[in-house]
Amino acid sequence: MAKPLIVGNWKMFGRCADLAEIGALAAGLGGAVQRIDAVICPPSVYIAAAAALARGGPIAVGAQDCSIEHANAARTGEVSAAMLAEAGARYCIVGHSERRANHGEEGAAVRAKAEAALAAGLIPVVCVGETRPEREAGRAVDAVRAQVREAVPETDLPLAIAYEPVWAIGGDRPPAAAEIAAVHAAVRALNGRARILYGGAVGPANAAEIFAIANVDGALVGRASLKAADFAAIILSHPAAG
Ligand code: PGA
Repeated sequence: MAKPLIVGNWKMFGRCADLAEIGALAAGLGGAVQRIDAVICPPSVYIAAAAALARGGPIAVGAQDCSIEHANAARTGEVSAAMLAEAGARYCIVGHSERRANHGEEGAAVRAKAEAALAAGLIPVVCVGETRPEREAGRAVDAVRAQVREAVPETDLPLAIAYEPVWAIGGDRPPAAAEIAAVHAAVRALNGRARILYGGAVGPANAAEIFAIANVDGALVGRASLKAADFAAIILSHPAAG
């Protein structure tokens, strides 16, 4: 079984003072962190400070996005994967539904970002997930399959895929276990190597149930990753935490 991967996506939350949560999280995890990869993805402006705080400890730092450009380029406002790696990031989320919805990123651009992350030595966490109309039309599995085919690069390097139903993100209820299992099985059939994470409304109260689902190798957590106590409770509810 793959080493579980649990990634906290702070989105545009968390200020400098909140980076102290990283120390609190490390302290709260104890020995569990040797058996689980735990990652915090703060806003990019805080990555270097977060990495300095996390250095030598059990928590890795990741980014929430990167440019499709591999080298330095005239891309005002963008940050390359190489710069993120230099700042101390080891992971990079790409294709989050908020980027797809707010910045028009689709399959080819997401794949290009994942490739840029891989080229910089980062582990991409490629997000996929159906919308509510797709779910209601019975097209969830097909929609996710299509996104995986479009956005996930072929590679032998470490890479994660996060299944995040768009309608569950920011809500209070993930899909039923059987629905998560069906999508994860379909993603696994397409990609036997990647760690497949579930994301969307994961919290301390439902994490254990989600981690018990077949082909769920971890989680991508939004709101509940902002407070060390909540995020530690999620990580410690994984069976690998012992
Ligand atoms: P949530 O967000 O855990 O707050 O639902 C998940 C995500 O968007 O990655």
